[in-house]
Amino acid sequence: MKTDVPYTLYAERRARAAAKLGKNDIAILPTAPERPRNRDTDFQFRHDSYFYYLTGFTEPQAWLVLTGDGKSHLFCQPKDLEREIWDGYRLGPEAAPATLGVDSAQSVAELDATMPKLLENKGAVWFPFGIHAGLEARVAGWLTQVRSRVRYGALCPEEQHDLCAVLDEMRLVKDAHELAIMRRAGDISARAHVRAMKFCAQWLREGKDLREYHLDAELSHEFRMGGSQYPAYASIVAAGANACVLHYRADVAPVKAGELVLIDAGCELDGYASDITRTFPASGKFTGPQRQLYDLVLASQQAAIDACKAGARFTDPHEASVKVLAQGMLDVGLLDRNKVGTLDDVIEKRAYFQFYMHRTGHWIGMDVHDCGAYVEPSEVGKVAERKDALSGELIKDRPARVLQPGMVLTIEPGIYVRPAEGVPEAFHHIGIRIEDDAVVTKDGCELVTRRVPVDGGEIEALMRA
Ligand code: GLY
Ligand code: MN
Ligand code: MN
Repeated sequence: MKTDVPYTLYAERRARAAAKLGKNDIAILPTAPERPRNRDTDFQFRHDSYFYYLTGFTEPQAWLVLTGDGKSHLFCQPKDLEREIWDGYRLGPEAAPATLGVDSAQSVAELDATMPKLLENKGAVWFPFGIHAGLEARVAGWLTQVRSRVRYGALCPEEQHDLCAVLDEMRLVKDAHELAIMRRAGDISARAHVRAMKFCAQWLREGKDLREYHLDAELSHEFRMGGSQYPAYASIVAAGANACVLHYRADVAPVKAGELVLIDAGCELDGYASDITRTFPASGKFTGPQRQLYDLVLASQQAAIDACKAGARFTDPHEASVKVLAQGMLDVGLLDRNKVGTLDDVIEKRAYFQFYMHRTGHWIGMDVHDCGAYVEPSEVGKVAERKDALSGELIKDRPARVLQPGMVLTIEPGIYVRPAEGVPEAFHHIGIRIEDDAVVTKDGCELVTRRVPVDGGEIEALMRA
C-alpha cells in the first residue's frame, strides 16, 4: 500500500506508546501472518492493525520492537531479487530506517537469534495477548534462552503485559489524519450504496433476473473505482426475508419487486474501515407496512444520533434508539400492550428483543469492530449486578465509556420480524437496518457516511431517477 503520509506520524505514535512502557521495558509487535488458502496459494495479505498503526508498513513477515527509552527496531523481509521477481518489491532492512523512521532494522531471518539478546536485562516484556497464535510460546522460548544466561549475570524480564491495553486506548481516539481517511472511506462506500440502489431499480424495470450477487458486484466495482483496497468485511446483500439473518452474506437469492433489500457494506481505505447499512425497496417504492417500519427505524436512529456527543455514555445512543423502537413496536402492533404492558415494561423486560436483538453500535476505525474499552476506565471498579430479564443470567454492569471528541462509532438500529404467533402478517419477513458512522464532536457528532440518502422519500426519488 502506498502512503504519502510522512513517517513522522508513525514515529510520534511510537513515542507515545513507548512513553506508556517502563523506561527499561520492551514491546514486541508482529504484523499479521500470511494465511494459506489451499496448497501454495495464500489469502490476500492484510497487515495487522496494531502493527500498521505504529509503522505504516504493509509488508508481511515484519516485527516491530519498541523499548521504553523510545527506540524502535524493525525486522523485515530481506531484499531478494528472486522473491521480488515472483512476489513483488520488498523495502528491505537497509532502506527501512530512512523510509519508516525506525532507529534500526534487520532481516526477519535473524529474529529468533536476536530477540533473546534484546530481551536480556529488560524489566517487563509487552506484546499483544490473545491475538497471534503461537506468539506466547515464541516469547516464552526467547525468555528461556535469556534464563539460560542468568548464571553469567543476565537478568530476565519478570513481568509480561498486554500491549493491546496501551494501543487500544491510543487507537480509540482518532487523529486528524485518521479522520480524513475515514471520511473518504465513508464517501466511497456511500457512492457504492447509491450505485447499488440505482442498479437494482433499473434491472427490475428492465425485467432482468436480478440476484444478490449482482448488487454485490456493483458495490465492489465502486469500492475499487474509489481506490479502496478491499471491503472492510464481507458485504451483506440480503433480499426479502434474508434481511432477518443478521450475518447473511451476498448470495444467489433473487431480488424481487415488492421486497426490501438490506445492504450492509463498507470499503476499507488505506487501512480504515467504513460500515454502512441501507434498506430500500427493490423496485423503488415502499409498501405501506415497509414504510411504517422503515420510518420507525429511521426515527430511532435519529434519536441515537441526537444522543451521541462528547460527555455522553457509549450506551446512551442505544438506550435512545431502544426507547423509540419499543414505543413504535407498541404503536404499530408488533407488541401487544395487553401482553407486554407499558413502554417501561417493554424496556425493563426487554420485550423488544424479539425484533431488535443487537446493540446500536460499535467502535470503528482500522477494524470494522474496532478496539477500545466499552467501559469507562476511570470507573471499572464501580460494579452493579443485575439479573437479565430474559436469560435470568447475573450480569455485572460497569459504567459505560464516556464519549470524547475523535472517537468513532456506528449507529445502526434495526427491526427484524420473523413470523410468530401474534405478529401481524403484514410485517412478516421484513428486516430493516440503517447504519451510519459517527465521529464524536464536542456538541454532537459528524456522520461521515451520509452521501447516500437515508430518508424514505429521498431513496424512492433516487431509485426513480
Ligand atoms: N457490518 C458489521 C456491522 O454492522 O457490525
Ligand atoms: Mn456495524
Ligand atoms: Mn454494518
